[in-house]
Amino acid sequence: MSNRTFTMIKPDATANGHAGAILDQILQSGFKVIALKYTQLTVEQAQAFYAVHAERPFFGELVDFMTEGPIYAAILEKENAVADFRKIIGATNPAEAEEGTIRKRFAENIGRNAVHGSDSDENAAIEGNFFFSHFERF
Ligand code: RTP
Ligand code: MG
Repeated sequence: MSNRTFTMIKPDATANGHAGAILDQILQSGFKVIALKYTQLTVEQAQAFYAVHAERPFFGELVDFMTEGPIYAAILEKENAVADFRKIIGATNPAEAEEGTIRKRFAENIGRNAVHGSDSDENAAIEGNFFFSHFERF
């Protein structure tokens, strides 16, 4: 079991001014920031990051959304990081997310859902490597 996960504060939450509150909830939940970056994805980067969803009907919408404005990307550390982070962000659809979760508090809908969280240790490593060199981790 790895102790790291990867997250993005997505363009909706960033534009709506929720990044500070989201980062605060992440830190208050016991996660430590290993790497952090404020950036905007290109279409090519968003397509590559979400390549696993390339055949899904929402792929075009997802790429448009993820490139519409800047995001915060981060590698986070905590015991049982992947599962615990999925727990604090809540269900993909905020209408189904538990009370107090980041998506329940800040997401607009199933597509514009405020945050990303890795779904496995393997993907956490791949996604962290997508954004960060080893000189950017502390
Ligand atoms: P994420 O990867 O961003 O943490 O989200 P997730 O695991 O909870 O959900 P996933 O199935 O991996 O979907 C990735 C992102 O695609 C958008 N989506 N839109 N319109 C739709 O039905 C739909 N379904 C998914 C969301 O932004 C979702 O987070
Ligand atoms: Mg996912």
